[in-house]
Amino acid sequence: MAQNLIFSKKILLWYQKYRTPNLPWQLNKTMYKTWLSEIMLQQTQVKTVIFYYERFVVRFPTIVQLAEAELDEVLFLWSGLGYYARARNLHKTARIVVKYYCGNFPKDFNVLISFPGIGRSTAGAILSLTLDQHHPILDGNVKRILTRYYAFDYLLGNKSKINNKLWLLSEQLLPDTGTGVFNQAMMDLGRLICTNKCPACKDCPLQENCQAFLTHRVNQYPKKEPPKTLLKKTIWFLLLLLQRRTVKIIWLEKRSYQTIWGGLFCFPEFSNINMLDIWLLNCNLHNDQYIDLPILKHKLSNVDLEIRPILLNINKKINCQKDGIWYNLMDPPIVGLPKPISNILQKL
Ligand code: ADE
Repeated sequence: MAQNLIFSKKILLWYQKYRTPNLPWQLNKTMYKTWLSEIMLQQTQVKTVIFYYERFVVRFPTIVQLAEAELDEVLFLWSGLGYYARARNLHKTARIVVKYYCGNFPKDFNVLISFPGIGRSTAGAILSLTLDQHHPILDGNVKRILTRYYAFDYLLGNKSKINNKLWLLSEQLLPDTGTGVFNQAMMDLGRLICTNKCPACKDCPLQENCQAFLTHRVNQYPKKEPPKTLLKKTIWFLLLLLQRRTVKIIWLEKRSYQTIWGGLFCFPEFSNINMLDIWLLNCNLHNDQYIDLPILKHKLSNVDLEIRPILLNINKKINCQKDGIWYNLMDPPIVGLPKPISNILQKL
């Protein structure tokens, strides 16, 4: 049997024997549900996604309801998942599908990859997993399996050439039928067996022909990028808290879409304390009564953030120029909040 056929047979047999599709988006599949889950699963683990996915489909059972919603509510339901461009693109795509495709999610690969947030692998996953269309995928899981199986010297050449080569391999390995099951099996194998750390090679159906395994070099693949030096950054958050009887409100500004946390609501942020003081002076507020709250650490993909929250109790609303809201802590509005902001708010 041709090598590629052996590969796909082993993968399909493994899936049949050991896997039962029982994740919420794998039951009664629709294009909408597969699309939503694939977007959530980009850069996020299955166990984290389940809660967010289930809450999301309860609120937006169809793409029409998603398109009709305000972006603030979509970001509210995405709060804590991170990589918020995914939510903004999801909402944009929903509006495109409703406006130009009568709310029917297109089934054409070239149309799908023209939508915000859908690349080649995501389009292939949506169409193969839902409709069994014949498209390869190349997410992190599949890349890792192929890199090990062929002991591919991943970082040694030109990145886009290597990617093209991996795409070609993924295409060649696709079985003629059962593409959806094969793609799902590859992602499951990468997620559960051919893991980044401590892969379970003894349980792997590809062990016999895996070049990295046969040469005792599994841990050397994929070749690791030299660790990024994480930028360290300190920022100051100003918490303007207005308390009247039992009502507590606090000033939050909407972040511009070009920045991290774009479209979410945040305390006024400063890169040094002098700028915070100037801001207060401009609002006729005095800086001698503010309280330093405990410092918070927050990791972003390439920055280690140190957050210094400064609390200032005020007795009347100030006139803030920026687009923002007085956030009522007792009756929270439906808006997106980055994790460190909701953590701070919870403690107030
Ligand atoms: N990662 C991305 N998509 C996935 C899927 N459908 N199943 C498991 N892991 C995934």
